[in-house]
Amino acid sequence: MRTQLKEATILFAGDSGDGIQLTGGQFTNTAAQSGNDISTFPNFPAEIRAPQGTLAGVSGFQLKFGSVNIYTPGDECDVLVTMNAAALKANLSTLKKGGIIIANEGGFDAKNLRLAKYPEGVNPLNNQTLDDYEVHTIDVTKMTREALKSSNLGQKEIDRSKNMFVLGFVYWIYNRSLDKTIDYLSAKFAKKPELLEANINVLKAGYNFGETAEAFTARYEIGPAPLPKGIYRSISGNQAIGLGLLAATQKAGLQLFYGSYPITPASTILHELAKYKNFGVKTFQAEDEIAAICSAIGASFGGALGVTGSSGPGIALKGEALGLAVILEIPLVVCNIQRGGPSTGLPTKTEQADLFQALYGRNGEAPMPVISTRSPSDCFETTLEACRIAIEHMTPVLLLSDGYIANGSEPWKFPKSADLPTIKPSMATPRSNGSDEVFLPYKRDEKLSRKWALPGMKGLQHRIGGIEKEHETGNVSYDPDNHEFMTRLRAEKIEKINEHTPQQKLDNGPDSGDLLIIGWGSTYGSIKTVVRDLIAEGYSVAHAHIRYLNPLPKNLGTIIQSYKHVLVPEMNNGQLIKVLRDKYLVDAVGLNKIKGMPFTANEIKNKAVGLI
Ligand code: COA
Repeated sequence: MRTQLKEATILFAGDSGDGIQLTGGQFTNTAAQSGNDISTFPNFPAEIRAPQGTLAGVSGFQLKFGSVNIYTPGDECDVLVTMNAAALKANLSTLKKGGIIIANEGGFDAKNLRLAKYPEGVNPLNNQTLDDYEVHTIDVTKMTREALKSSNLGQKEIDRSKNMFVLGFVYWIYNRSLDKTIDYLSAKFAKKPELLEANINVLKAGYNFGETAEAFTARYEIGPAPLPKGIYRSISGNQAIGLGLLAATQKAGLQLFYGSYPITPASTILHELAKYKNFGVKTFQAEDEIAAICSAIGASFGGALGVTGSSGPGIALKGEALGLAVILEIPLVVCNIQRGGPSTGLPTKTEQADLFQALYGRNGEAPMPVISTRSPSDCFETTLEACRIAIEHMTPVLLLSDGYIANGSEPWKFPKSADLPTIKPSMATPRSNGSDEVFLPYKRDEKLSRKWALPGMKGLQHRIGGIEKEHETGNVSYDPDNHEFMTRLRAEKIEKINEHTPQQKLDNGPDSGDLLIIGWGSTYGSIKTVVRDLIAEGYSVAHAHIRYLNPLPKNLGTIIQSYKHVLVPEMNNGQLIKVLRDKYLVDAVGLNKIKGMPFTANEIKNKAVGLI
């Protein structure tokens, strides 16, 4: 029996080490290939190997996929695949009443139950606690061993492939082809043929189990989503940042240099860019955060686009060098993939608490443009825009993303190069022989930007460094009037950028009305879902999502004044709201979540309805 569905949410959960991320990633890729719209939420502990079997060690991967537009990984799950007792306990609250539980019986032995802190003698699979759900208990470990009984692999490797059994079974439930995963495994384990064969055998065993299991008869069909025509791939936020940086430098005719020090959740940008040596991309894993940004500043000084990436703790270390880039007035893109803070905080959990750091976190008056991305696929376009601003306005730019966007995936339509904006660096022209024209390195154009003067070019010799510059000549200057003048000029230059960026648009809703929900960053999908639903229910609600956080779009104040109430949901203790109150004197209301987890749509909806 096959039931047609519009959308479904699955949560794969198990111990870290059970291969849950790989399983979720494979289901995502297969769903993307089938044309579904998708949103994913990988959620795992900070320890490389958290204490086995414990609640703290649970690794989860939630995805929502559908034949309709999908904006979030789902508030509640339809299916919870749980590899052990801890994964069930940690995630049961996210499963819909009546939802399906697929439980690995082997993960519910006495030891696993004790580690998951179930009372002595209690096994949730054998009592009434799961009566509200449809529970399917499968001894995945036993069946995996059975499928591999003639394999020469060791017990550990055999047991590790049990995630493929579960994946094969879930593919059967949703009637998906195994081909894409077989291709992936063939590439991943090309040098380990026995491991490859074992994984493929177990994947097929899981699928075939579905064909033969009498207890499980329900299967579901979810057709392709109405996405605009084109070639799509599934893309994570950090992959999209990597490709955005690459595309921007190609469109600007510049070399790309990426200097960074590894840090969760930013490291995968370095991994992604390291693949593009064929485009001349230079990646440098520096010895620390300061070296990473300073190498990028050096690259920009030399005429490449210098980029560095980190998360909040690393950006803190880069503080002085950020100021250096501000006073040098050279292009630099700094990606902050935010995570829970302060200090080391919650490395693998998401937060939007570095907005103040991005806006103000430097010594002296050191304003720089801040631009934020809202979803994995949006990272491509926003990164291009960050590079455009850096190059065309001769300034460092802070690009804000977060762990939720960085690790999450969604379909991304391959753009055509011709459709991407051309980026125009404004290079100083070397002097010709005999020319006596004096080069003024800090002479400005109508945007108040200076020219990019490459070292070694005839007649373009100039002083550079962190000490205050004299207007136009760039000579060292301690003159009080010059310092005030230059400080105001640098601020005006950044403020003027909003003459060259788009006006704020409403994402949805009427031009005026009862409530405006203003968001930035990864709250996009949840707010979008809420506003869509509230409008359908007859409420007068609109949504504005801010990409340009500094300078703010020129028309934002007018938009804000057109609504009776303004709600600002943020995954922090209230940062954008303070900026908006300061700038527009608006009595906005905040909704703040600081749990390392994204908002569910319902959390925002309840607050919104309470205001109107
Ligand atoms: N056969 C062989 N290998 C398999 C497999 C299978 N069937 N299934 C999974 N694996 C491998 C994966 O490829 C992965 O190895 P790789 O990283 O070399 O590719 C490994 O087993 C773990 O599987 P994965 O699905 O990626 O993760 P998991 O759900 O088991 O959870 C993590 C492990 C991700 C939680 C943990 O290892 C981790 O990395 N935590 C985050 C660490 C971090 O960033 N800390 C912050 C520091 S500041």
